[in-house]
Amino acid sequence: MTDVEDSSPSARAQQWGSSLGFVLAASGSAIGLGNLWGLPYRLAQGGGMAFLVLYLVAVVLLGFPLLLAELVLGCHTGRSPVLATRAVGGPSWQLLGWLFPLSSTLILGYYAVMTGWVGRALIEALRGHLPTDQGKGAPFFLHLSQGWPEAGAYMVVLVFTAFVVATGVQQGIERLSRWSMPALLVLLIGLLLWSPSLPEALPRYREVLFHWQWSDLLDPGILRQAFGQAFFSLGLGSGAMVAYASHVQNRDPLPQQAAAITVLDTTVGLMAVFITVPLMGTIALGQEGNFGALSNFFVSLPLGFASLGHGGVVLAVAFFLLAGIAAVTSAVALLEVPVSVLVDSLGWGRGATAWGTGAVAAILGLPALLSTDLLMASHDLFGGVVLIGSGLLLSLLMGWVAPEQVMGNLPQCPRPLLQGVLLALRWLIPLVLGGVLLLSSMDLLRMNLALRL
Ligand code: PHE
Repeated sequence: MTDVEDSSPSARAQQWGSSLGFVLAASGSAIGLGNLWGLPYRLAQGGGMAFLVLYLVAVVLLGFPLLLAELVLGCHTGRSPVLATRAVGGPSWQLLGWLFPLSSTLILGYYAVMTGWVGRALIEALRGHLPTDQGKGAPFFLHLSQGWPEAGAYMVVLVFTAFVVATGVQQGIERLSRWSMPALLVLLIGLLLWSPSLPEALPRYREVLFHWQWSDLLDPGILRQAFGQAFFSLGLGSGAMVAYASHVQNRDPLPQQAAAITVLDTTVGLMAVFITVPLMGTIALGQEGNFGALSNFFVSLPLGFASLGHGGVVLAVAFFLLAGIAAVTSAVALLEVPVSVLVDSLGWGRGATAWGTGAVAAILGLPALLSTDLLMASHDLFGGVVLIGSGLLLSLLMGWVAPEQVMGNLPQCPRPLLQGVLLALRWLIPLVLGGVLLLSSMDLLRMNLALRL
């Protein structure tokens, strides 16, 4: 079923400078607002420990095997997501391939809106204009998320993202990741060391993290959030890892690389939880104002930082800088998916394609720019249900249609691990994701109906 061998000059024409360069870039794709905003808000919205347990189970049992399968798919075909799925599955699987650039571009639209808000929050922190009391919290978010300055920040994010992708895999994406990932980790560790010293830290950890109820493990809302979080955070089902892996040299140790990316991404998410939970006031557990999930990040955190006086302003600058860096490297990965597909499938030039696709993403993101409700709906749909659905199809492709790709292309991988990965791809991932997808659709439908009634 494979026509991998006879492939013409491929995505591998562009290569990562080194194995570390690839791991940094792929971690840059994974680590983003999903870790810094998504994980803490989903935790605070309910579920606490049960959510964390489900999230970690999803990462280890489903996320890691699927990530490894995506790396194998990209690396051993040397092709962008559409041609890679076609190469291993035949023409009928090409449809799945096209889902990748479509969903990535749609995600990039709303993701760039949020990245713009982060940039504006950073500027406000630098100017010392953080909200100092509860009454100023909601207007602060409205100030970030409305008007021409918001549209300007959105455009700056997309222009920078397109510039990096247009500059190339090694010169653009890898070069950005090489300085931004270490900077991000330094900022994160600094903030982590400081956070337990906050006055209310321990009670807040206890309140948000350590409440446990067995029934939560079967709560459809919590299940959907936990699995959605694992997928979004690792960027699975979006084609980003396939696209990045297509530039990897065949000798690279993919299992170790997949493990490093998974561990880094999950650790950063957990660190973000420890940093942000003490700063969230009790009233702001995702319900404050009309902004729901967004209030945690753009209302509670600025209020929390401002309450710490001058030192808080410095910490706010560090935090929003860190979030901005993380968001931009993820936006770059999201744009690389459609660009790699168009360059590889149609032979278009990288530069013009990056700018053109960036412009398309700018148009697709307009609804999210104009309405925070539409932004959250896009996140639930494209960043949740669609990614999970594509992940499910991908596991069927790699587990049933082309298992020899996984079995034959990982010679360094210990046999039991290989068999575990195959078992996950064939049975565990399709069954669990099928169930979660069903629950998610019912949950989303129920929420929409409840909103209408
Ligand atoms: N993983 C990124 C985050 O957590 C988002 C992302 C999704 C990036 C899909 C690439 C592909 O913010």
